[in-house]
Amino acid sequence: MVTLLENPFRVGLRQERTPEPLILIIFGASGDLTQRKLVPAIYQMKRERQLPPELTVVGFARREWSHEHFREQMRHGITEFSDGIGNEDLWNDFAQGLFYFSGDMDNPESYQKLKAFLEELDTKRGTRGNRVFYLAVSPKFFPPGIKQLGAAGMLDDPIKTRIVIEKPFGKDLGSAQILNRVVQNVCQEEQVYRIDHYLGKETVQNLLVFRFANAIFEPIWNRQFVDHVQITVAETVGVEDRAGYYETSGALRDMVQNHILQLLCLTAMEPPNSLSADSIRNEKVKVLQATHLADINNLEKSAIRGQYKKGWMKGKPVPGYREEPGVNPESGTPTFVAMKLMIDNWRWQGVPFYLRTGKRLPKKVSEIAIQFRDVPLLIFQSVAHQTTPNVLSLRIQPNEGISLRFEAKMPGADLRTRTVEMDFGYGSSFGMATAEAYHRLLLDCMLGDQTLFTRADEVEEAWRVVTPALSVWDSPADPTKIPQYEAGTWNPPEAEDLINQDGRRWRRL
Ligand code: BG6
Repeated sequence: MVTLLENPFRVGLRQERTPEPLILIIFGASGDLTQRKLVPAIYQMKRERQLPPELTVVGFARREWSHEHFREQMRHGITEFSDGIGNEDLWNDFAQGLFYFSGDMDNPESYQKLKAFLEELDTKRGTRGNRVFYLAVSPKFFPPGIKQLGAAGMLDDPIKTRIVIEKPFGKDLGSAQILNRVVQNVCQEEQVYRIDHYLGKETVQNLLVFRFANAIFEPIWNRQFVDHVQITVAETVGVEDRAGYYETSGALRDMVQNHILQLLCLTAMEPPNSLSADSIRNEKVKVLQATHLADINNLEKSAIRGQYKKGWMKGKPVPGYREEPGVNPESGTPTFVAMKLMIDNWRWQGVPFYLRTGKRLPKKVSEIAIQFRDVPLLIFQSVAHQTTPNVLSLRIQPNEGISLRFEAKMPGADLRTRTVEMDFGYGSSFGMATAEAYHRLLLDCMLGDQTLFTRADEVEEAWRVVTPALSVWDSPADPTKIPQYEAGTWNPPEAEDLINQDGRRWRRL
């Protein structure tokens, strides 16, 4: 194995800075996301001295908790789901800045009281009226929550106040447009941070650095050299305890419309003029505007869905999707999607982008593979009937890294070839684990950097791309028609046909 020499200078997407003192208000603070991801990420920032001492967190939820109980819960979350509390003095200092506010998101009075409480905290903690409102709640609370914040005058100052919205952002194009209008009625786009946690992953951010800080890849990153691109986001988990949400979502809404289309944008976009949020987001929107299903009139030739049935994972039997707790026994919800998309522009005309994602697949692995064209003439025909095409594989997770597959001469007097790989691994090159996505995203939001968040038009274009498949799959057809795959296998057979029809194969990962 050959190891790539690392670039000796480091390229940053952002200068190291410390946010202004502020209050982060988390709606849905008694939920899983707060305890497992958000507060552990903030504590990690504290540990790494990335936060001002005044940083204050207010958890907002319906339950009647005391500040003390909230602190206990957060301590438990940090211990369970991250590196632990470590230094007790650090924790005590952090805990002083944690507060809880019990309120009802539908009730205007709660917002008036919250407003007064935040003003009190401004005086006590020196947070100067700076606020980040984080909506870690069920999407049905997005519109009332945003409207009430607006009505209470809490989003009036576009410099001092921001709002973070978790996914799902709408359930189709129409509802996303309505939600965008609700948001735009009460705040400016520069106050809005729509989260797609894939954009917070180091390996996803590295796509820009890899493509635009290296001179050698850009000249071959186009239809002249690239045969096709495969984007895989495979998961081993099933629906877990999220049937309530997943039954209304399914793999297309849960993974493709957001995470996978973001990966596609970063792979396919043109070089931005600068690293400013809008330069990058403008380029991503252009990609989405040019993207469409390969054959809109024959959906089965460009989009396949599937649902896992019972099978085996790591030697243990697991139930099928329809047998999972909370799932309708006749559910037609897809847990797998494969798609063939085309991008109509000069760079990518005629180059298919194959996407696939699913739950209960044999391996947890996410990668983007750029497969290059064959050599124009194989002069080694006497020794090799066929060579394997070059593939550049960008491993998003796990085993984060990049590898390039190419042909090499095997040692010896005979002229024989074999496929080998050059490999770069984050772990071995940087000797450190990649940071949690929420850490980076929360910090950027506090710093007012929108680069890694999706803009209104981007979200809408992404919905447009998946609409032809959604509108057919959402129709009340006989759910038994959904192709099935055994848990622990890669896909329903129809997904093989999707790519085999073009004389290509899914990568074996
Ligand atoms: C979430 C989806 O957005 O992403 C989940 O709702 C999915 O269904 C998860 O499991 C995957 O994220 P990651 O970071 O584990 O690849």
